[in-house]
Amino acid sequence: MLATPDPSPVVCLTDVFDGAALQSGGPVLTGIARDGDSVTIQFDLSDRTWSSFSTFVASGAGYDLAWRCRPASVYHLGYACFGLRALPVSPTLGTLRLNFNSPSVWPMTKTDPSPTPTSHEGDRTDGLYGQPDLYDILHGPDTEWEVRGLFRIARRFLGPRDPATMRWLEPACGTGRYLRIAAMRGVRVVGFDRSPEMISYAKARMKDLGVSRRANLFVGDMVGFEEHVKPASIDLAFNLINTIRHLPSDRAMLAHLAGIRAVLKPNGVVVVGISLSAYGKEEAQEDIWRGKRGRIEVTQIVNYEPAEDGPGKRKEMVYSHMLARGPKGDAHFDDAYGLRSYDLRQWREITSRAGLECIAVIDEQGQDIEIREPGYAIHAFRAKPSP
Ligand SMILES: C[S@@+](CC[C@H](N)C(=O)[O-])C[C@H]1O[C@@H](n2cnc3c(N)ncnc32)[C@H](O)[C@@H]1O
Repeated sequence: MLATPDPSPVVCLTDVFDGAALQSGGPVLTGIARDGDSVTIQFDLSDRTWSSFSTFVASGAGYDLAWRCRPASVYHLGYACFGLRALPVSPTLGTLRLNFNSPSVWPMTKTDPSPTPTSHEGDRTDGLYGQPDLYDILHGPDTEWEVRGLFRIARRFLGPRDPATMRWLEPACGTGRYLRIAAMRGVRVVGFDRSPEMISYAKARMKDLGVSRRANLFVGDMVGFEEHVKPASIDLAFNLINTIRHLPSDRAMLAHLAGIRAVLKPNGVVVVGISLSAYGKEEAQEDIWRGKRGRIEVTQIVNYEPAEDGPGKRKEMVYSHMLARGPKGDAHFDDAYGLRSYDLRQWREITSRAGLECIAVIDEQGQDIEIREPGYAIHAFRAKPSP
């Protein structure tokens, strides 16, 4: 029996999975949240062996599948999260079909008017960036290789240098994973982050490694940080893995880049790793990150919902599901947040307005690469000479 379309679709969805339908083999619903036109539904699949995840279809009226986990991730993590976006045609939901390698259809009935919220409400990142130890484990595997790349980048643009003669800056440095390796190799480093948890973790690790004297770490925002850094003192500033896209507007980006210009030495270089958008041509994507340290294993599934262009838009939604496994059991941390989007034209325009001149587009090891839209690349800049 299918439900009558209801003006409150979250209620319908709750009921689909919370009621009799679950007894016929459906997964356990662990959360539903609605944020504007978007609905996120989350299941726990850990007690089942689903051989694959073939289809997830919202049809009938009112909803479109915005993104979903790939089969591998669902299978691996025993945990799935889906997003639905309301279509403009109708605010109601007709039929929801889930197919876990079998043509099961669970009907909807209406009972509970108060859905259980998940943490997918607005732009919060405390689930992800509030767990510095887990974040650091997750990103551990690539860090050494990336820092080798930063040294190559420094050599390419600044010439061969004794590390002890260089000062590097990382805005939004998180756990300081790059900076502490650089500091161990003799570079003097400056890093800041708006998360106090990240900065205390970063400081503690520097101390453990005996390199605190080479590190200036502080809690600060990408806008306004320059007050705490000596003017014209930085040889290399770097901002990788789309972190700069946390800045929510052109105004914030221009203010941040003005700060970077103020602290760079005259010949200094800033490198920014950014994924450019291709509006209207991108599909929802997913990344899986894994890391292990000691007996703690961390897996993160990240779903990206592409941004649209236009005033008040330009926000790629990111849904992060992090699972930590350790001797004391499992812990889940979920987040949803937006990253400001740029296509190549928008990126060139804003960086030029900020007084930066692009000197190369490179990969993580400093080799020239073609710019792709969509695509990730590291853009290297120097300040344009003042007119
Ligand atoms: C993806 S993490 C990157 C951390 C680090 N750069 C790395 O690559 O490991 C993004 C970091 O940006 C920080 N952040 C976000 N917006 C910020 C802002 N406006 N000012 C300073 N830090 C910010 C977060 O707290 C988080 O630590």
